[in-house]
Amino acid sequence: MTTKVALIGATGYNGADLMKILLRHPHAEVVYLGSRSEDRPRICDVHPSLLGMTDMIVEPLDMEKIAKRADVCFLGVPHTAAMEFVPTLLEKGVKVIDLSADYRLKDPALYTKWYKHEHTDKANRKRAVYGLPEIFAEEIAKADLVANPGCYPTSVILAAYPLIKEGLVSSSFVADSKSGVTGAGKKLTETTHFPEANESVAAYKVGVHQHTPEMEQVLATVSQRSTKVTFVPHLIPMDRGIESSLYLPPSAGVDDDSITNAYQKYYKDEPFIRLRHGVFGRTKDVTGTNFCDLAWTVTDEFVIVSSVIDNLIKGAAGQAVENMNLMFGHARTEGLL
Ligand SMILES: NC(=O)c1ccc[n+]([C@@H]2O[C@H](COP(=O)([O-])OP(=O)(O)OC[C@H]3O[C@@H](n4cnc5c(N)ncnc54)[C@H](OP(=O)(O)O)[C@@H]3O)[C@@H](O)[C@H]2O)c1
Repeated sequence: MTTKVALIGATGYNGADLMKILLRHPHAEVVYLGSRSEDRPRICDVHPSLLGMTDMIVEPLDMEKIAKRADVCFLGVPHTAAMEFVPTLLEKGVKVIDLSADYRLKDPALYTKWYKHEHTDKANRKRAVYGLPEIFAEEIAKADLVANPGCYPTSVILAAYPLIKEGLVSSSFVADSKSGVTGAGKKLTETTHFPEANESVAAYKVGVHQHTPEMEQVLATVSQRSTKVTFVPHLIPMDRGIESSLYLPPSAGVDDDSITNAYQKYYKDEPFIRLRHGVFGRTKDVTGTNFCDLAWTVTDEFVIVSSVIDNLIKGAAGQAVENMNLMFGHARTEGLL
């Protein structure tokens, strides 16, 4: 059966990649594209990479229209904006996949602390399912509200999950991540415009990045142990891609085989995880794909894991479609391979 899809925030970076995936998806039909603007542009004029693929118009925001036409709505909007739409959409029977951070954190106090904003939709926040299919596929399949994970947390959680869950490493570790500039979205800012970002690498929000509690929450939930991530993100001068290097102190007696066996146990049948033992992958290897490539080595002091993803695909639009596939009974890889 065809899943009818609406998209709010269609003019943004995630909007562009969602369109590219959904237009090729054999069981999805895009029926509504929304923007705050009254201009009604063609989406292919907003994102010229879509020229020749669709002539759809981006319409002003209208929840009634979405409810009439769509089974599911993707929200590719900033945090705090998403929670303005979710209650109405759910009330009208439209399932939601939210790419913002609004429904990722279970504890409202954590949301206020890290996002400097009160959560205004506490009831629905409780029912939201964290949309990381490698861990929560069963819950996602039954959900009507999915909180699509952040791009950094996707890369870090996928690398750490089997090792933390099996108790092979300390649940207090360092994640050193590098992201391309699209991670910050389309809107121009002083730190992301060309002469500031080009030919330069900078750590930012060290120890205070808002994705930290998301990583800790998920890893603590799956391991039933409190988890501490020392997270150091970097902005690097490329368009897209994330590489996260994790430094995890090993438990006693852990060796290379124990780590390899854990990854095999959890991921050998996972369609979007590629285990590349000892071959440290490049962001280029996953560009435009929904894959997460993992490589690892064990030294005297650390298990060192490298995780690479495309921030806009496995870190956003691709994972969102993976979640839609689960929610609507399509094969998980549909439209993504
Ligand atoms: N970029 C990434 O790598 C990435 C990865 C994972 C998650 N995310 C999250 O996904 C969401 C979208 O990211 P993006 O990179 O696509 O952002 P973006 O390029 O900045 O696009 C966001 C779109 O949202 C709309 N918008 C902005 N403010 C709004 C508001 N107050 N109310 C309603 N709509 C508003 C804008 O469209 P109009 O002006 O046409 O209304 C804009 O084009 C964000 O929450 C982001 O944190 C991003």
